[in-house]
Amino acid sequence: MKLSHKISKLAEPLTYRRAWRRAQRSIFPLPVEPLAASIDQDRLREIQRRYAGSLSDYAKYADVDRWLRINRNRVQDLKLHRSPPKHVLDLGCGGGFFLFILKSLGHSVLGLDLDQFPLFTELLDLFGVERVVWRIKALEPLPDLDQKFDWITAFSINFNLHYPAERLWGSAEWDFFLHDLQRHLAPGGKIFFGLNPTFGGGYYTPGLHDLFLKRGAEVERERIFFGKGLRF
Ligand SMILES: C[S@@+](CC[C@H](N)C(=O)[O-])C[C@H]1O[C@@H](n2cnc3c(N)ncnc32)[C@H](O)[C@@H]1O
Repeated sequence: MKLSHKISKLAEPLTYRRAWRRAQRSIFPLPVEPLAASIDQDRLREIQRRYAGSLSDYAKYADVDRWLRINRNRVQDLKLHRSPPKHVLDLGCGGGFFLFILKSLGHSVLGLDLDQFPLFTELLDLFGVERVVWRIKALEPLPDLDQKFDWITAFSINFNLHYPAERLWGSAEWDFFLHDLQRHLAPGGKIFFGLNPTFGGGYYTPGLHDLFLKRGAEVERERIFFGKGLRF
């Protein structure tokens, strides 16, 4: 990278925020080795053997070490390794890596996802993470979950697509969803979304960025954080 480009990148708030997050991860570490060591290695190796030759895009999640590290960073960035025990709901929880780490730290966790990829079911089982099987649909409420959550998270979101058209949700769908999430949030609860870039590389439909701000979020490109609940 050219020096001038490096300097101009330093001036960007996004670059600062990322650097600050990286620095905080070093200051308040969360080693993955003890987490990995607590997993049944024989069972894990057997799962990995079966998915080694798989052509499915989702077979990449059998690389548990890599995904533990990615999710360790997520836990650190939300400061959940420095928090008293919380009730956490993770939407689109996949194989449950994020929740497995939280559970190991003493949090009480619940995942919600489709039952579409057998590998995810096997990993959730391996990690001892409970999942509610549910398809999130535009303009339809989530099921009753019999508890309120201090945190609701969703990473690498792709439930925000209309099928089969694969058109991104707009503000109306998101606002319905946020109102519905409010039902599941404990007083003082927080919400974090990590959006996925879409086919054209964008994250937002028109007006969506403003909607997140209006509802009380801090928005940093794909990172949407409601640190003080939702504002209606
Ligand atoms: C890209 S994966 C991310 C998994 C996990 N959050 C992570 O970051 O490792 C997207 C997840 O969302 C789930 N998903 C997609 N559409 C969904 C829907 N309509 N309702 C619930 N889950 C959905 C998928 O099954 C998958 O587990």
